[in-house]
Amino acid sequence: MMKRTLLLSSLALLVACGTSAAAAPADYESKMQAALDNYAAHSDEILQRAIKVGNDGAAIDSVEIDANGDVTSSSSAALYAEFGSAAVNTALDRINKEIEQQDLLEETLDPEMWARFSYWDLHDFFGCEKAFDSPRPLWTDQQWYDVWDLYHEFIEEDKKDGPFTKVRAYQFSKDYMDLSQNAIPFQSGEKGRGLQAVRDIKAGEMVFKATNNTIVFNYGHTWRKLLFAVNERDPSITCDMHVWSWVQDLYDGGPMKIVMDLDSGSLLNEGRDNVKGWDPPNVQCGLPDATRCDMDYYAYRDIKKGDELLIDYREFAFLDSWPAMGL
Ligand SMILES: *[C@@H]1O[C@H](CO)[C@@H](O)[C@H](O)[C@H]1NC(C)=O
Repeated sequence: MMKRTLLLSSLALLVACGTSAAAAPADYESKMQAALDNYAAHSDEILQRAIKVGNDGAAIDSVEIDANGDVTSSSSAALYAEFGSAAVNTALDRINKEIEQQDLLEETLDPEMWARFSYWDLHDFFGCEKAFDSPRPLWTDQQWYDVWDLYHEFIEEDKKDGPFTKVRAYQFSKDYMDLSQNAIPFQSGEKGRGLQAVRDIKAGEMVFKATNNTIVFNYGHTWRKLLFAVNERDPSITCDMHVWSWVQDLYDGGPMKIVMDLDSGSLLNEGRDNVKGWDPPNVQCGLPDATRCDMDYYAYRDIKKGDELLIDYREFAFLDSWPAMGL
């Protein structure tokens, strides 16, 4: 959940008197006086209200109040009075504390509502922000074997939970591929865990492909359930499985699916061409002349032994499509 931040360079309080101002100057003056009296008597309250109303996450330069001290957003101000910076900072501190408490409340997700948790609710619920605060360990072989077993047990169990019209989740193919012939997991500094080439790979060679370890989910809820099953068995890997999953279609115009690789292919980090702060990708989905990426991944530059493998996720993943999966 995004934290709201108040960026307040200077707060000017604008007192507006509505459209009657130009028409009736006498009335205007008395209203203005009333507003200023009101301001003098309730300046602290007004300041707080002004900051709250004006706080949409952007910088607040000015806010307006009417004669009752109610905050309006019109910019047809006739007069402004400035609060001292000390008063503004005190009010800001107080408001920020309130907002923090409100956010905390919102973030306390009711476990009974788990079946409705969205992608980001799950991220919060499993404490994933914190989990990724420190470097994550590489998975042991045993952890992968366990997760394969868990997947099969989960699917058998889930089948009993009918009725359903479509298979809820399946393995993408029957093929198995030993990715370690081409690349192995390693700790890649700032990027966290990654994949490192174990041999020189020529441009155009296949690096890896979707296999029997690639799980496709037809329903967001099945994916959500699997995460809870994982969390019950080994909470230390839940967040990995959460962030390693992505959404894509399997053919043009086809329905969205959630895809997850239950192997170290999940460690493939992201690269971007010609973007400052990004390393260029050296792997691409599909052959260079392919019109779409079909879960086969090829080297598109010569890769040296020891190089990190990188791909532009946008080639295959729909990064903001979780809501389309009911998440
Ligand atoms: C994929 O196949 C390999 C080799 O047969 C096997 O060890 C592994 O358990 C399979 N993966 C899954 C998810 O069943």
